Amino acid sequence: MKKRAAPAAASITVTVDLHERSYPIIIGHGTLEQIGPLVAAKLKARRAAVVTNPIVGKLYGRRVATSLQQAGCEVVSVQIPDGEEHKNLASLSRVYDRLLRQRIDRDSPIIALGGGIIGDLTGFAAATLLRGIPYAQVPTTLLAQVDSSVGGKTGINHPSGKNLIGAFYQPRLVLIDVGTLQTLPRREVLAGLVEVIKYGVILDPNLFALIERDLDRIIALDSDLLRDVVAQCCRLKAMVVARDEREADYRSILNFGHTLGHAVESLTAYKRYLHGEAVAIGMAFALQLSTIRGYCERATMQRVIELLKRAGLPVEIPPKLRGEQLASAIESDKKMASGKVKFVCLERLGQTRFEYLTSEEIAAVAAQYINVGGQ
Ligand code: NAD
Ligand code: GLY
Repeated sequence: MKKRAAPAAASITVTVDLHERSYPIIIGHGTLEQIGPLVAAKLKARRAAVVTNPIVGKLYGRRVATSLQQAGCEVVSVQIPDGEEHKNLASLSRVYDRLLRQRIDRDSPIIALGGGIIGDLTGFAAATLLRGIPYAQVPTTLLAQVDSSVGGKTGINHPSGKNLIGAFYQPRLVLIDVGTLQTLPRREVLAGLVEVIKYGVILDPNLFALIERDLDRIIALDSDLLRDVVAQCCRLKAMVVARDEREADYRSILNFGHTLGHAVESLTAYKRYLHGEAVAIGMAFALQLSTIRGYCERATMQRVIELLKRAGLPVEIPPKLRGEQLASAIESDKKMASGKVKFVCLERLGQTRFEYLTSEEIAAVAAQYINVGGQ
């Protein structure tokens, strides 16, 4: 007798509330096969394009294509090479060429199947092709599931900087299968975990405490726990996006740890650290700055840094970078207003404040860096 597959645990739906542009985020384990019925029902599509890369395509492309075909959708597939260096105009052009050649129309959605690179590039292709066609995000990295697939920031890199070409353009649907994380390299899982910890630090002390308690189970990819944790991160991101879709002000709390993290990434030529690892260094730094300035208790700083270290993440700026170079990297990365950078500080878990600092003030704190140990 054929063995029956265990029923998938119930999925969770979170809504991003943006009035007529609202959309659901469906989070579960084994949900990938729902893409066909969802696209057919929600987007009323008879054709769909799937954009992915060779790694994710090989792992999950067939499941997604079969589900779409079984729901009556003809499928057009496009692959772009893997890697941040391919999040560029050439790859975007490849997507445009293929979809236009296949006569994709404004009723045919594009499905972004992959991590943040695929999601950002596909979202931008959808925003610009035929003046805007619907798209769905099917994120397969932890970072993409808890952050980049939600909120409509889309774009590509330019030789003079990351994400310099882009648009705010919301997806019509986000479908998250936490089961896809089973194949993600451990280092990528940990880099994504930084964004999860970030939500706990800036918005949700209960989530932070849960991560502290269940860190080992999260890293071991316990599927029910992952579903709940990813869903909570999506709720928090949905709340922030609904309040400030285009980052007029409030949404920039999500940049906690990113100002310095981006500078460290660019000073190490995007080679030494994954994005999440650089953000872990940036978060540890933002906590130190908050403590030195008297906004945040030392015990809170130590508690967060301890969790980052337990997760095997880097927390120290390489000593060679703690000077003028750091100041100029911060200046060239961020929009400065009257010579100051908007910097996200922490007062206590769940409570942030914005500070406007010169890059020299930031670099001066880096120079008096408290030794937090680690590596
Ligand atoms: P990524 O897309 O490069 O994916 C990381 C690696 O994992 C890649 O090699 C990819 O092929 C592989 N991969 C993906 N899913 C897999 C799976 N399930 N199993 C095995 N391998 C898998 O990196 P990322 O961290 O997901 O995204 C980084 C990008 O996201 C950056 O370009 C960044 O600018 C962007 N980003 C965007 C936002 C936003 O709000 N739009 C937010 C944060 C980051
Ligand atoms: N990743 C930060 C944001 O979406 O605003």
